[in-house]
Amino acid sequence: MESESLRSQNGFTPEQRAGLYHAIFNRRDVRGQFVPDPVPDEVLARVLTAAHFAPSVGFMQPWSFLVITDPAVKARMHEDFTAANAEAAALFEDERQAAYRRLKLEGIREAPVNLCVTCDRDRCGPVVLGRTHMPAMDLYSTVCAVQNLWLAARAEGLGVGWVSILHPDRLRDLLAIPERVVPVAYLCLGYVSHFKDRPELESAGWRARLPLEDLIHFDRWGGDGSGSDGAASLREAVRASMAGVREDGISEPEGRL
Ligand SMILES: Cc1cc2nc3c(=O)[nH]c(=O)nc-3n(C[C@H](O)[C@H](O)[C@H](O)COP(=O)(O)O)c2cc1C
Repeated sequence: MESESLRSQNGFTPEQRAGLYHAIFNRRDVRGQFVPDPVPDEVLARVLTAAHFAPSVGFMQPWSFLVITDPAVKARMHEDFTAANAEAAALFEDERQAAYRRLKLEGIREAPVNLCVTCDRDRCGPVVLGRTHMPAMDLYSTVCAVQNLWLAARAEGLGVGWVSILHPDRLRDLLAIPERVVPVAYLCLGYVSHFKDRPELESAGWRARLPLEDLIHFDRWGGDGSGSDGAASLREAVRASMAGVREDGISEPEGRL
């Protein structure tokens, strides 16, 4: 009873919640469906603002956003992708390599905007609240910004594709990124003809979504919850929640919440 009233006090309205889950379950990594329509400045500004409101260790806000629209820069980036992708393909064998070569894994030239999201590891000096014992936390904070951007873009009808098959040193050179700054994400962004229902790697048979319940451990790594009263009911709730996400990946949040 008490938690119900706290939920109505602190939670979102059903419509707000539905909107958030809708963005989460309908977000896709987009490679091939970009259309050339320009992204209006105010829309791009909103998704960048969403990124900037991400959590960050010690409120460090270590990110910067390089907005790339120059076709010559995109062309050079695409050249590097082509080289890196050939190296990557060679790491897989036989059938897997043939399947890899059929995948489209970037939309660098087609997407009207490319964004490089970086992490300045020295933004607030060497000692950062919260980063004292786990130095990678500023990098993780930057990834939080990317995810905020990705979800906000989906809500705006913009596709985003993350391209990581690039040589980091070449990426740094091409964009004149200083030594203390790490390029975390290279993103392609733009309006799309459509969003796919499922991850492309899933529909291509590359890899399936794992059952969430197999990824939950109780009280210790590998703990099956036999000593915990709540384990069985949480497991059941997780199964029901996963079943509420429809086959095609489009959820009906209202029915589940
Ligand atoms: C850190 C990171 C790097 C990724 N790099 C690439 C990439 O280089 N090329 C690509 O096509 N997709 C890339 N992806 C997208 C994943 O393949 C995609 O998120 C995954 O297959 C699930 O699909 P979905 O995002 O549409 O749900 C990357 C995703 C993440 C989070």
